[in-house]
Amino acid sequence: MISEKIQKKLIKQLNRESESSQLYLYMASWVERKGYEGICQFLYDHSDEERIHMLKLIRYINKRGGNVFLDKISIINTTYTSLKEIFVKLFEHEKKISKEINFLIEISLQEKDFFTYNFLQWFVKEQIEEEAVSKMILDKIELIGEDKGGLYLFDKDMKNFHKK
Ligand code: FEO
Repeated sequence: MISEKIQKKLIKQLNRESESSQLYLYMASWVERKGYEGICQFLYDHSDEERIHMLKLIRYINKRGGNVFLDKISIINTTYTSLKEIFVKLFEHEKKISKEINFLIEISLQEKDFFTYNFLQWFVKEQIEEEAVSKMILDKIELIGEDKGGLYLFDKDMKNFHKK
């Protein structure tokens, strides 16, 4: 059985994952309208991944005898000025999520909930990857700068992007 304290924190996290999914979705839609096919595919796919993160948490809470509720999503600026702005925001967002996961792990140890501690290890691995990917894309966009040809090729490359 899951403690009230842990349940509350996990529910907060699953709502963050749900919000992340919406955030990536809005960004994908903006990018698609600008004609970047590869980058928008990456963002749509990532929106699905965030939903999977949310589902993992929901199913874990239910398995441990908890009770889940979803917050209303209060999003978010839907217009952006550039690809760079999007990936700066995503990198910051992923760093924030990593911090929250870290915090959750700290609490699971304080509460001696080693089941939750173990469950959260998947998210640790995932966040290392998520931060690295958003930073990698941001670095490339900064490198390319205003070079339209470079952006075109990068967008083409992103069509074949597969997370390791
Ligand atoms: Fe589920 Fe991008 O963190």
